[in-house]
Order: sequence, then structure tokens, then C-alpha cells
Amino acid sequence: MAEINNDDKVSGVTLRETKKDDIDSIYKLCCLAELNESLLNKPHIGFLLAHYSAHPEFKEIFVEHVGKTPFFVVEYNNRILGSTLGYTQEQWKTVRGGLIDAAQKDPLWIPGALEKLEILDPHSIGYSVCEKIVTHPDARGMGVGKMLIEALKQNSNSQFQYSEVVEKVFSGENLLPLENIASQKFHEKVGAVKVARSHRYSYDKSYLGEDGSFVDGIYLLPLGK
Ligand SMILES: CC(C)(COP(=O)(O)OP(=O)(O)OC[C@H]1O[C@@H](n2cnc3c(N)ncnc32)[C@H](O)[C@@H]1OP(=O)(O)O)[C@@H](O)C(=O)NCCC(=O)NCCS
Repeated sequence: MAEINNDDKVSGVTLRETKKDDIDSIYKLCCLAELNESLLNKPHIGFLLAHYSAHPEFKEIFVEHVGKTPFFVVEYNNRILGSTLGYTQEQWKTVRGGLIDAAQKDPLWIPGALEKLEILDPHSIGYSVCEKIVTHPDARGMGVGKMLIEALKQNSNSQFQYSEVVEKVFSGENLLPLENIASQKFHEKVGAVKVARSHRYSYDKSYLGEDGSFVDGIYLLPLGK
């Protein structure tokens, strides 16, 4: 494990772009954070929505992103401690068609939030996207996530960085005691502002299968550009 400073932050770690050789390690990291039953009572540690171990084809998607999208790792002694995968605005348009249309319609804007960021029209801002961020459970709270966000920031010329954080998880009509509290706190700490909530959407590639549905908090991080 990485060295710990007196102030509990990691030192001696390297931040670099992802290489194809890293994909197995990143996949394993994602598997450790995938949403599954064992995470039901641990929302403070966070989770990723896709059920990676049941969907190894995600590895191929990761490989396709290497060298093409903003994709970084933090490593220590040849061990990957964290990874983030981002998109430029142009790339995100090919994924989603626009800034915020996961549910094919505008989300529920939080009163006052856009004003706080001096945004008149959210659809006309320049943005980049943090699509996935994960750190090793043994390295949480040591600043690895922050380093990864900093890498995305440095890589972007946009005004804002967009991300989605799961707030509500339903199994059928039952609201589960599960929201990504770790990611919410993390986003707040790095300076992101929650501007909206998504409509409820389904995503069959989670352990809840077709019964699962989700509501996201939508965050914008001002990049000072
Ligand atoms: C969310 C996640 C990436 C945070 O990574 P991390 O490496 O622990 O974050 P950092 O150590 O850089 O923390 C940055 C700040 O956020 C705070 N923070 C991080 N996790 C927190 C938590 N669970 N509860 C409260 N605050 C937290 C830290 O205290 C730190 O605050 P500081 O700047 O005042 O010291 C990590 O918990 C994770 O991988 N979770 C599982 C996957 C996931 O949920 N990804 C996000 C999907 S949207």
C-alpha cells in the first residue's frame, strides 16, 4: 500500500494516462466497487452501477477508450490505486446526444443552483464529463480521487465538468436504503454543485436487473476556465 503522510494523504504515487496493459487492473478495481447486495448497507463507501464481473465485455469498452478519451490512473509500486474515465463535450454528444438527456428530457433543476454557478442556459455551457471514478478500497480518503479529478481538470478547456451520482435505488417500487453517499460527499468536497436530479431510469446491467431503477444527482464542477 502507498505511503501515508502525516496528514493522511498518499505520497510517492504517480498519475498518468491509462495504457492498454492497465485494463485488467482497472476492471478488478471496478469489480470491487460494483453495486451488489453486499453494498446495500455500506452507502458511505460508494459504488459503481454496472455489474462488471457479470459483464466482462466492459473490458473491451475500456480498451477502446485508451488513448482516445481522458482516461487516467494513479499508481504506486506498479499497483493501480485509482482510475477515472472522462469524455470531452464532443465525445459525450456521441454517447448521449447532449449534456443532460439520460431520460430524453430535461432533469428536475434544483432552484437556485444554476444561478449560483451563473449559468443562464445549461444547454449552452462548455463542459467535459467525469463518467467513471474509482479508487481502491484500501486507498480511500487519501487524496487519490482528488488527484484523478485534478487530471481531468488539467485535461479540459471547458467551463464545467459534468457528473452523475446515484441518489436513489429502487427494486421494483421499493426504495432501497442505498445512495452513493461517498460520491456525493466527494463531489461536494472537490467543489462540484448539485444542479439537478434525473428522472427515474432503468439500467439492466446492475445486479437488480430489469427490476432496478435509479435517480441521479447531477453535478457541475466549475473548472475556472
Ligand atoms: C468516491 C471515491 C472515488 C472517492 O475517492 P477517494 O480517493 O476516497 O477521495 P479522496 O481521498 O480524494 O477525497 C477527497 C475529499 O472527499 C472526501 N471524501 C471522500 N470520500 C468520502 C466519504 N465516503 N465520506 C465523506 N467524505 C469523503 C475526503 O474526506 C476528501 O476531503 P478533504 O479534501 O477535505 O480531505 C471513492 O469512494 C470510490 O471509489 N467509491 C466507489 C466508486 C464510486 O462510488 N465512484 C463514484 C461513482 S459516481
